Amino acid sequence: MSYIRKIEGCDDMFLRNSWYVFGWAKDLIPGGKPMGRVVIEQPIVVWRDAQGMLHAAEDRCPHRHAPLSMGRIKGNTIQCMYHGMTFRTDGRCVHMPLMDPAPDVTIRIYPVVEKDSWIWVWTGDCALADESFIPAAFGIDDVERPMKSNSIEYDAHYQLVHDNLCDLSHVDFVHDTTLRQASGAHWSETAPRIQSNRGAIRFQRWFEGADLPGQSGEKVDTWITYDFALPGIFILKGARYPLGTAQLCQQTEPVGLEPLMRNIEQQAVTPISKTRTAYHYATGLIGDTREMTRQLAERMDVVMAAFEEDRQMIEAQQRIWDLTDPATPKVFVPQDKGPHLMRRLIERSMRDEHDTVKATEIQASAV
Ligand code: FES
Ligand SMILES: [Fe+2]
Repeated sequence: MSYIRKIEGCDDMFLRNSWYVFGWAKDLIPGGKPMGRVVIEQPIVVWRDAQGMLHAAEDRCPHRHAPLSMGRIKGNTIQCMYHGMTFRTDGRCVHMPLMDPAPDVTIRIYPVVEKDSWIWVWTGDCALADESFIPAAFGIDDVERPMKSNSIEYDAHYQLVHDNLCDLSHVDFVHDTTLRQASGAHWSETAPRIQSNRGAIRFQRWFEGADLPGQSGEKVDTWITYDFALPGIFILKGARYPLGTAQLCQQTEPVGLEPLMRNIEQQAVTPISKTRTAYHYATGLIGDTREMTRQLAERMDVVMAAFEEDRQMIEAQQRIWDLTDPATPKVFVPQDKGPHLMRRLIERSMRDEHDTVKATEIQASAV
């Protein structure tokens, strides 16, 4: 895999001091089956105790490396279902059949947080895990603002998925018969305004005279703002206004104006490995609740069809990348601005992280 430019002196492919979306909080019930997933090549198990509190640990039994996610929750412990080794929530082994006392081993514990309907795990130095770093999303449990959610996986490097999200001009081509029509807009004909801030990139744009889906011939102005935040969070807000609103606002943000309807999307890209990526997404509509519920079901069908289209394109692209010499030149076009800023952001953050780790190691060796 030669897709990411190597950072000098740093072989890593992932940000580690970071909160990653592990999955949807609704998928874990108190005292229920633990969930095992791989995040940046680290096998992690997450479970809820009987009180509903989340716990996360290395998904690897220190006996013969069976995944603890195949185990069971017993009170405040998790038990490996191969030979019964049992661990407290602080990672300490407290029981092993035929052994008294229990073996003196611990498993790695991960900081874990539930926020905006996602489970987030911190994969780096525990001392640096700060919940305030978690970017804001919407959450899918608000009855006033229903959202539908799902998760899929791509056989592709995570940056190809990020590229796709940071350049939505592809909607006109990859999603010509799905999302493009549902949005009523032409995404490749105008460029968004793009601003880069520390740790995030904001894209904003108007679509003037967009079709109002389902209302033949009716036109609206649509305002879209979307944010890409590290390590791979994508939050989109769309709002439809009467025709002429974009001009009224002089093509700037429609502050204080009530839209005809809104849509929201929350999406997370979580690297599993260098060749596989998880994608957790939810879509929602805001407006008249009963009508929205019907439309939302239809919209989810469109979104799922569209993400399957993305998957086919991204995986096919990955297969070509795998056959391509990294030195092969690529054409740079205006659509690349978002993906370019995103890659620079990730590279800079990885370099900062690498430098911090190095400085800590030097300090420690000097003591
Ligand atoms: S592998 Fe877990 S107890 Fe043997
Ligand atoms: Fe797409």
